[in-house]
Amino acid sequence: MPKERIGIMGGSFNPIHARHIEMAVCAKREFDLERIIFLPTGNPPHKRAGLEDAEDRYEMTRLAVYGMPGFTASRMEIDREGIIYTVDTLGRMQKQMPDTAIDYIIGEDTLVDLPNWRKADKVFTMCRFLVCCRSSDEIRNHPSVAQLEARGATFAFLTLPPSKISSTAIRAKLEKGEEVPELPPQVEEYIRLMGLYGCKAVPGAAKFYARLRQTLSDKRLVHSLLVAHTARKLARIHGVNENRAALAGLLHDCAKCLPLADMQRIARDSRLLLDKETLQSGNLLHGPAGAVVAEKEYGVTDPIILSSIRCHTTGKVGMLPLDMIVFLSDKIEPSRRSYPALEEVRRLAQEDLGAAMLHSLQSTLEYVRSQNTEPHPLTQQVADWLQRIV
Ligand SMILES: [Fe+2]
Ligand SMILES: [Fe+2]
Repeated sequence: MPKERIGIMGGSFNPIHARHIEMAVCAKREFDLERIIFLPTGNPPHKRAGLEDAEDRYEMTRLAVYGMPGFTASRMEIDREGIIYTVDTLGRMQKQMPDTAIDYIIGEDTLVDLPNWRKADKVFTMCRFLVCCRSSDEIRNHPSVAQLEARGATFAFLTLPPSKISSTAIRAKLEKGEEVPELPPQVEEYIRLMGLYGCKAVPGAAKFYARLRQTLSDKRLVHSLLVAHTARKLARIHGVNENRAALAGLLHDCAKCLPLADMQRIARDSRLLLDKETLQSGNLLHGPAGAVVAEKEYGVTDPIILSSIRCHTTGKVGMLPLDMIVFLSDKIEPSRRSYPALEEVRRLAQEDLGAAMLHSLQSTLEYVRSQNTEPHPLTQQVADWLQRIV
């Protein structure tokens, strides 16, 4: 009796999108799977036009499933060279996890292609197929199903309703410069920063991202992409340079994962004029320390980006539009857990940055006072300044 059932989601994930995630969630729920492993394909020996590099497809997959319980992305196929057949991948998995039963999650296009798989009859003994229908649920009655069952294949069907979402349509939207709500926002931002699928890369972003990936936790990395994504949208609305906003969002927490003592050393070495409270709190200090890190270690020279990183923890009197955009994006990015003022700040941010800032700071002041603690003096000063100008 197998100890656990796992689901395998194979595919090129070029790029991964909402339908892939829905399929996996549905399979996990309906077939009581303990884990889902997403398995992006490696680079084929001859690169197909429009197929992005395996490392990028893996990274997008990893970002998309981050934080989803039981979901992981595997490098098993991208780390191998040459043509990789499912029969070999399943054989490796069986060796690594001998007590595991494998469900292979496929779409109907893959189902009709199964007879062409290498050593298909052997594959049929190694896994069950969970089939998700694309356009209608007629696939159950497709002649292929009976033929393949006669050869030993086992099928079960997901109840997920058909959908028109496809990677092809998503790539076309990206190339036309349209927004793509079918993509997880962190994946969409990764695509835009790196310049995949015909988007224009943001200069410097690939280098910055590689470094952030080494120094930030995955949670912080995904948050940074979501802040970049939100900052880009607000920049578009308020007539601020989008690339600048996205870079500032990406880098805003570059010092957040440093130990407090390191942040304090940076502040001392750079002779930052900071109050005692800021110097003793990593939550406040990673703003000013982050601006130093962005300049000295990442090589950022744009003073407007550096300013927005510097003041994103406390705000400042005389904030520029980009300062407000980064400050607000940090508070309202899509993965933020709900707090009382969240929806109102989100709404105001689309209309008036100053009013959104004021609402956000006032709700912070109220919260801090309700906890019988004193807010940072700057919070009140910035709120007073905003009250005069909004
Ligand atoms: Fe921060
Ligand atoms: Fe942040």
